[in-house]
Order: sequence, then C-alpha cells, then structure tokens
Amino acid sequence: MNVILIGGGGREHAIAKYISKNPKVENLYALPGNGGISKFAECVKISAEDIDGIVKFAKDNAIDFAIVAPDDPLALGAVDRLEEIGVKCFGPSQKAAEIESSKIFAKELMTKYNIPTAKYKIFSKIDEALSYIAVSDCPIVIKADGLAKGKGVTVAENFKQAREAVMSCMKDKTFGKSGERILIEECLSGPEVTVLAFTDGKTLIPMVSSMDHKRAYDGNKGPNTGGMGVAAPNFYYTDAIADECMKKIFLPTVNALNSEGRTFKGCLYFGLMLTKDGPKVIEYNCRFGDPEAEAVLPLLESDLFEIMLAVREERLADLEIKFKNAASCCVVVASSGYPASYLTGYEINFGDAEKIPGVEVFHAGTKREGEKFFTSGGRVLAVTAVAEDFAQAREKAYEAVKLINFEGARYRTDIGG
Ligand code: AMP
Ligand code: GLY
Repeated sequence: MNVILIGGGGREHAIAKYISKNPKVENLYALPGNGGISKFAECVKISAEDIDGIVKFAKDNAIDFAIVAPDDPLALGAVDRLEEIGVKCFGPSQKAAEIESSKIFAKELMTKYNIPTAKYKIFSKIDEALSYIAVSDCPIVIKADGLAKGKGVTVAENFKQAREAVMSCMKDKTFGKSGERILIEECLSGPEVTVLAFTDGKTLIPMVSSMDHKRAYDGNKGPNTGGMGVAAPNFYYTDAIADECMKKIFLPTVNALNSEGRTFKGCLYFGLMLTKDGPKVIEYNCRFGDPEAEAVLPLLESDLFEIMLAVREERLADLEIKFKNAASCCVVVASSGYPASYLTGYEINFGDAEKIPGVEVFHAGTKREGEKFFTSGGRVLAVTAVAEDFAQAREKAYEAVKLINFEGARYRTDIGG
C-alpha cells in the first residue's frame, strides 16, 4: 500500500517506526516528516496544515491510506477531504475532531451526557468574564475555546493572573479566533492521567495509561510546554479506576459522539484528573498525545498498522490487542529557552545512546543533512527506554540522555517522580 503520514514530530517518528514494520506498508511518505522519520519514510516538503497540498499529493501518488496525526490538520478537515477522494484514513472527521478543537463543544457534550468534568461557565464578553472572576474563588482556570498550540489554558492562582488571562484571550487576541470565547472552570486537584484509546466508534480499546509532565522545569515548575516527559503506566491508575473510567467516561464519550452524528474513528485522548470525587475529564484530544505516543507505542505488542486498518474498517472488535508487561520512561530533550524562544541548527551527537538495549531515540525537532542531524525545534528528541519495571526504564532513559549532546540541550531530571 502507498501510505502517507501527516506530521513531523516525535509522535510521528514513533508511528512511522512501528507502521513500517508491516509489509503491507510498501511506500511510506511523511508530510513533512523530520530527520528521524526520514529513516523510515520519504519526507515531502508539504506542511501538515496545507490540506490542498496534502490532497494533491495523495491524488498524484495513488495513496491508499493516510494517518493524520496532529490536531491542526484534523481540525481543518484533512480526513474528510482525503476520504472524499477515496483515501482511507486513520483519524477522526472534522466534526468528531471538534472534541479537541472546541473546548466549549467538549464541555457541552460532557454536560449533556453526564460525563464527569469540572464545573464551568462560557463567556464571549470581556466585561462579563471579568465580573465573574471578581466574585470567584482562586485558583480558577481560564481556557481559550479553540486550538492554541497547548498554551490556551491558565491555572490562575489569584485575581490578577485570572484577569491577565482573560485580557490576553479576549482583548489582545493572543490566540486569535481561538480565544474569542472562553471557558472559566472550577480548579480541580489530584493526579493527572492520560489514557489513549483506539476506537472505531463501536469498540474502544484503551492503551497503557501514562503520565505527561507538562511544566518546563523539575518539580513541576515553570511554564506549560507541549510535554517534557512521560511515565507509563501511570502509577495512580489502578484497575478499579480503569473500570470506573470505562463505564463513566470512555464508553459514554464514544456513545455521545455517535448520538451527535460525530462518530469518532482514530485515537481518542482522555486527559483525566483523579479527584477525591472520582475521575474527571480535564480535556479530550482527537489524536495520540505527544510525547505520550513515544512512551505508549513502544509498549504495544500488536501490529500498529493492522490496528489502524481495523479502526478505519470498523472491525476493532475482531482484534486482540496486546501490550507488553513492561514500563517505559520517555525524557524529552529540548532546546535551551523552550517553550519561549530558542535557537536551532546545532549538530546533535547521539553518542552510543541508541545502542543501549530497550532505548529508542525519537526525533521531535531535527533536520537531516546526509548522515548528520541538526536541531530544528523546541522539543528536539524524545528518548524512551522500556524495561521490566519503571525504575529500570527510568535509569536507562537517563543513561541514554546523558550520552546525547547538542548546544543548549536541556531536560527534566525528575520524569516519573
Ligand atoms: P490542557 O491544555 O487542557 O491540557 O490543560 C493544561 C493543564 O492545565 C492540564 O494538564 C492541567 O494540569 C491544567 N488544568 C486544566 N484544566 C484544569 C482544571 N479544571 N483544574 C485544574 N487544572 C486544570
Ligand atoms: N502531551 C499533551 C498533548 O499531546 O496534548
């Protein structure tokens, strides 16, 4: 089959690596891909947001199957456009992807179908939002409705921060149209868990749970990032909690989307908080998390491409999906300055990191020139180690990270506690 993979981060590197093991994948193209992905796919200079360019490439190259991995092309309707020309896709339609691209849509869905989440109010006028926070207790959470590159959420500790967040969204329009409407939410507390799940709209199969580390610095300090590392499985996510989530959150979400005529096919991401009143949804994403994918996919024993085909063809119930009885630790190595401004173009020296058994080095922001690799993004590498237990996985991941060098390389030293 001729296959395209849309995206160019660590998540797409992991997907490219695992799907290319399947002999059905004869020609794999990544749009746009990155340095690491070029080991498995032909990288084509078409941006993941250039839907017309993607569709034209698919037509010109007789593409049979597409994997649309990032949020932006999903929100822009890449799957609908590709399916229209006969390309089968792994990933939700634009209407189903709204579960991520509109936080207000997601909240209203949860309310309508009794799916546990934080209490909230919706605002489209600055004055009303400011009056509301003036009489609310802090901390309080301010969220831009639309996609904001992971930066649209502020957990405000006091009125001043809450006011700044409202002004930034609604007056300064920092997130453009995405911040025209906002949500103001009750602040929940408890351990956070990510659960990625395959679903074809009929069956839902959760993957191994994980814990992302969103803050930039050790001890969960500093600004939010796209994710600085992942521990999988998540220590807090017991079998009893998993059962409760399946009954009260996962299946009700799939059913709710079906009832609304927005059947979801692909990977549904549940961002959960385990509160004293039970698990609640913090956010949904309509795709694999990044860097969660780099920690969770290495634990998948079954063939990823076969699962993707089954999701598209609504035969997920026929598959037996197996995971390794193991743990993984993923440490992101970032450019100095990330998530604010940073320089790129530095050569990466991998040392013998990739020779350590159980270690995978996924490229998040790299460029290849011949046999050399250079930094090209904020998050540069996602270094994952798989081992029998988490302590060993963590030790190996850091052993590998210490062997890798580039100018300004920075990472958290406390992934997994
Ligand atoms: P998101 O961009 O939706 O993943 O949100 C970023 C982070 O903000 C989450 O991982 C949580 O740590 C935090 N957060 C979002 N909503 C809430 C909430 N209602 N209560 C407490 N923390 C929250
Ligand atoms: N790691 C969080 C996300 O992918 O949204």
